[in-house]
Amino acid sequence: MLNPASSIRDWLPSFLVEGARTAWRDVAHVTRGFRGEKVMTYELRSARETDAGLSPRAVVTKRLRVLEAVMCTPSAVSVRFETADGSPLHAEAGQFLSVHWPTGVRIDKRAYSLACRADGSSRGRIVVKVVPGGVVSAALAANAGSLAHLDVTGPSGSFVLDASAHAHVFFAGGAGITPIASMLLTHVPDRPKDRFVLVYGSRSLSECILHEEIAALAKAYPDRLQILWSFDDAEGLGAHAKSAHIGPLDAAATRRLVAAIDREVVDDATFYVCGPAPMMAATNAVLEERSVPASRVRTERFASPGGVVGTGVVAAKTVALRMKAGGRTLDVLGSTKQTILEAGLAAGISMPYSCAMGGCAACKVRVTAGETQSEEPNCLDPAEAREGYVLACCTRPKSDVTVEVP
Ligand code: FES
Repeated sequence: MLNPASSIRDWLPSFLVEGARTAWRDVAHVTRGFRGEKVMTYELRSARETDAGLSPRAVVTKRLRVLEAVMCTPSAVSVRFETADGSPLHAEAGQFLSVHWPTGVRIDKRAYSLACRADGSSRGRIVVKVVPGGVVSAALAANAGSLAHLDVTGPSGSFVLDASAHAHVFFAGGAGITPIASMLLTHVPDRPKDRFVLVYGSRSLSECILHEEIAALAKAYPDRLQILWSFDDAEGLGAHAKSAHIGPLDAAATRRLVAAIDREVVDDATFYVCGPAPMMAATNAVLEERSVPASRVRTERFASPGGVVGTGVVAAKTVALRMKAGGRTLDVLGSTKQTILEAGLAAGISMPYSCAMGGCAACKVRVTAGETQSEEPNCLDPAEAREGYVLACCTRPKSDVTVEVP
């Protein structure tokens, strides 16, 4: 059964939405009883009775006012923005925003790292590489001249500086430079005792995202920041022609470049890796060869949420969710088409979340009974998945479920 409240929610006034939602829940409750199904007990929660005043009823986005959107390379768009309400962005260098982009009947979500100094202000910047077939990146580039605002969730993510380390080696490939640039622009000026090394691979100088800013940073702090450049294409490299590695940033090239880094730095460093999958695999292989423990390697992978995997299409039907949160147990009715996060928020339960797209694990919950299906890829650790954890923002119930919200 399709929940009509969810399909009309977008255009009805909020008091009618709430009324429709309650009426639908009651009808579904009675219908389940007539069908001979186990009828769950549920607690009627009004806004006053619940913590709904503190907890939103749906995923809440933050509106950003676009200050400037321009193509900064032939295939990357730079978007500078400020929060529409002037509130601080509350970002840590290396974190990402989830852009919610309406595309007709649905909203596509994409994670884009901040590519700026995290200065505690209301302003920031993302740089988006236009990918072949990419819905949101192509739309951002096509609308660059007229982009007025963006709706986002976050900042999210844990790809941030290891504050306990004093040596940091970064491996960036293509647009993977963006979170790393954010860390460098933020921390190189502020950590005079630290050493930073950047290995940066790009297709060509003209496609090299944030080239000028990063080169200027190394020039301003030559004792703190060393950059090892790598370009696939030798054309037009200018001053880089003599010193840069020319060719793909594969395992052999990475091995050579790491050998050029001060041994003391390599021995003490925390390593940070972000870029295309082959480049990340090559880098991780070289770090393994050098016996760098996994605890000293931080990686960031971005992938758009795909489809639901391994389960086929599940028909829309009403299901019962027993939610255990904050020492209380609450039974609510949801739909197989709702995520656990959406169902929990709609019931007024205080559900933690940040990116709302499977990229940060802030919404991790444990399913102790019933069947679910999750969108892939997501950032859940396979060991946690084996223990029954799921990401509430991209997991839907297939049957009645019991969920523990940490
Ligand atoms: S809110 Fe980020 S993974 Fe669910």
